[in-house]
Amino acid sequence: MKHTITMTSVQNYINGEWVDAEGGKVFESINPADRREVVALVAESSIADVDRAVLAAREAYKTWRLVPAPKRGEIIFRAAEALVKHKKRLGELVTREMGKVLAEGLGDVQEAIDMAYYMAGEGRRLTGETVPSELPNKDAKSVRVPIGVFALITPWNFPTAIPAWKIFPALIAGNTVVFKPSRYTPACAAELVRILSDAGLPKGVLNLVNGPGGEVGRALTAHPGIDGVSFAGSYAVGRALAMQSAHDGKESSFEMGGKNAIIVMDDANLDLAVEGAIWGGFGTTGQRCTAASRVIVHRPVYKEFIDRFVVRAKKLKLGNGLDRHTDVGPLASDEQLKKVQHYVQLGTSEGAELVLGGHHLTHGELAYGYFMEPTIFIGVRPEMQIAREEIFGPVVSIIKAEDLSDAIRIVNAVDYGLSASIYTADVNKSAVAERDIEAGIVYINASTIGAEIQLPFGGFKRSGYGNKHEAGGRGGALDLFTRWKVVYRDFSGRLQRAQID
Ligand code: UN1
Repeated sequence: MKHTITMTSVQNYINGEWVDAEGGKVFESINPADRREVVALVAESSIADVDRAVLAAREAYKTWRLVPAPKRGEIIFRAAEALVKHKKRLGELVTREMGKVLAEGLGDVQEAIDMAYYMAGEGRRLTGETVPSELPNKDAKSVRVPIGVFALITPWNFPTAIPAWKIFPALIAGNTVVFKPSRYTPACAAELVRILSDAGLPKGVLNLVNGPGGEVGRALTAHPGIDGVSFAGSYAVGRALAMQSAHDGKESSFEMGGKNAIIVMDDANLDLAVEGAIWGGFGTTGQRCTAASRVIVHRPVYKEFIDRFVVRAKKLKLGNGLDRHTDVGPLASDEQLKKVQHYVQLGTSEGAELVLGGHHLTHGELAYGYFMEPTIFIGVRPEMQIAREEIFGPVVSIIKAEDLSDAIRIVNAVDYGLSASIYTADVNKSAVAERDIEAGIVYINASTIGAEIQLPFGGFKRSGYGNKHEAGGRGGALDLFTRWKVVYRDFSGRLQRAQID
């Protein structure tokens, strides 16, 4: 039997109005810690809703692109203030709808707050270059201009942060948006949209269309009224959308997962390395693109690291993320649970040794959620599928390395390259790792998770398609959401020929 606690209704937000899906259909968003709790009844959109949202965004673009960026920034600043004010409530909603423990739910909202303040300030920068011309009485500059209407497709694992990474920079740059969040976290998405609309965003600038990925996502990204696509999610979906976008000539960026590794050298502070591996492997129940799903341990400390790591992992308490004693929450959905169970079976059949966990827990209250024990495989070889494929769950594979170059070779022996880390006390080793690891983010003496928004976020190889990264810094999201326009102004009053006169 299902019971409901403060269930809300999540409509679409199109052209400044909250509306039902055109066909009136709805789907449920449920609490993964307790399936009996329906968090929201959500508009299940069709292509007709996508059409209306794109039309509204196109119309709004005509005026939004001309609003001075500092004014756009003021709206985003007000949204930042509202996010701060509602942080606790929103953090709890993240936990209820997605499952991560409350500290992380609050962190998810904090990351959105950070991005909002950062991008609000960007309204007074959006800097380009002014350079001298080679000719007299002529000036030359580059300016960032918006791209147009963006389709933003976001995953469930960071239901507030990742939408914020995309929406705030897209808006500050003068684009308008059709936002399609994951079907598993629509209530969190709707709260973010509500905050922006209350902050004074003009109608049509940000539109929300809910629904399962497949049909709606494809219709949106392929829509001729869409100029740019930014997606974070699985490699399979991202690749298909990337091909479509390339075919249509759309500006695009795709963030698509990782198979991130921590290297632990024999000179590392082992206590620190164990804490980093616990946090990277089991934080967010392993459901981060940046999760440390591999730990590559230098032979002399292989056994000792495993002993300490297993002892520490055994102490992790599984449960509802709203309970402050919980360390590890549920997986986000039944789909995730099945995927993780599949990989646990696969690891065993590939010959890895399961030394901890591996079970879906079904006793007591846990029976109502998607709870999977923290799971550790040892004796994993780099060629095994569990060592190469993204699992997105609380499963850590431990691999032995002979020396630093062997460890780096193993780190790089996967198709992904998002984040990686090395624990060592030797500055020279850290420098070699920093140089030779093929990943977009490298950590020294810290885990693979915890990127900050003021620098670019993105990966190499299968982790990221398109050379445009999310988040901030030079080369971050603003590069994705703007293009360069170069302006030469000749005030000499005569024909001047570049390269000739
Ligand atoms: C993700 O998992 O998709 O670096 C994003 C981190 C977070 C963001 C992760 N700041 O782990």
